[in-house]
Amino acid sequence: MNHVPHPDPTSAEERARLMQDPGFGRVFTDHMATIKWTSEKGWHDARIEPRKPFQIDPAASVLHYAQEIFEGMKAYRGAGNAVTLFRPLENARRFNASAERLAMPTLPEADFIGAIEELVRVDRDWIPDGEGSLYLRPFMISTEAFLGVRPSNEYLFCVIASPAGAYFKGGAKPVKVWVSDDYTRAAPGGTGAAKCGGNYAASLVAQAQAVKNGCDQVVFLDAAEHRWVEELGGMNVFFVFDDGSVRTPPLGTILPGITRDSILALARDEGLQVEEANYSFDDWKADAASGRLKEVFACGTAAVVAAIGEIRFTGGTQQIADGQDGPVTRRLREKLTGLQRGVGADIHDWRHVIEM
Ligand code: PLP
Ligand code: COI
Repeated sequence: MNHVPHPDPTSAEERARLMQDPGFGRVFTDHMATIKWTSEKGWHDARIEPRKPFQIDPAASVLHYAQEIFEGMKAYRGAGNAVTLFRPLENARRFNASAERLAMPTLPEADFIGAIEELVRVDRDWIPDGEGSLYLRPFMISTEAFLGVRPSNEYLFCVIASPAGAYFKGGAKPVKVWVSDDYTRAAPGGTGAAKCGGNYAASLVAQAQAVKNGCDQVVFLDAAEHRWVEELGGMNVFFVFDDGSVRTPPLGTILPGITRDSILALARDEGLQVEEANYSFDDWKADAASGRLKEVFACGTAAVVAAIGEIRFTGGTQQIADGQDGPVTRRLREKLTGLQRGVGADIHDWRHVIEM
């Protein structure tokens, strides 16, 4: 990979100031990784260079037809100061699944992970200590200039990095969610399982409704019947019942979350009864009201594991149990974050150490 060092990197004092309370996605590191693709040359010109605005043609197809996909992952500073990624191969695979769905070229997994490793090495001083982490955002855009509707013949892959703290403003406090009854996120045959920008553009009006109703996130129901719980705008969802069983909606139209998959494995390791099965919004309300439903949590790379304390919907609100962080949520969060930071035996081989 060609390295172009930053001529004027952020000073140590300025970096310390920016990293004091980074929140999520507001502070960016000095460099970015880029790789180009053309139909003639394939992938070429991999480099690490100073982070700067792109120059793209106003007719670049991403600006018109949204051929764009992305990933979200984190680098952690863990036990013994080791810098690690968590299951990066899964992100590489999902990125390529998204690429195929959006008629974009796939990137060899080794190049995807290699670009991320190089960027983390160059910008290592931006990895927060303690609870924070370096959020990594690999993405790909179509750059060819034309207005016909067809797959582009030119693409740019890029990785940017952003020191991150808690995703939700309230930190670890349980969140409130708004269940949308007019908007849906994904339909069978659509792009729900792909991580493409268009899915998020389409979710914004529903998310804005959630915020207007005093909630942190929107919950989407299925498009066909408006009955089955699918997922949140940017997270998967889990339910914990009074018999100790755990349920999450099945794959299909939802994003196959890597956190979701890890939580499923950790819950099974504990011997919990785990189901990937449909759950209706009507049952959610009834089970919360009867006390059968003990805990609900959202999970994802950015949000980690966040308890859902209350649901709001047209015509009502419903608290979940006592509205607090429950014991199963807490235990699974501690196991997951422990593993991400090198605490506990890594029996699934999920940690990926970056040689510095
Ligand atoms: N669902 C949606 C719509 C998301 O945007 C995300 C976040 O990436 C997730 C679920 C969780 O996925 P992961 O655990 O891989 O971050
Ligand atoms: C993530 O958790 O990485 C996400 O992409 C969710 C959201 C920030 C889009």
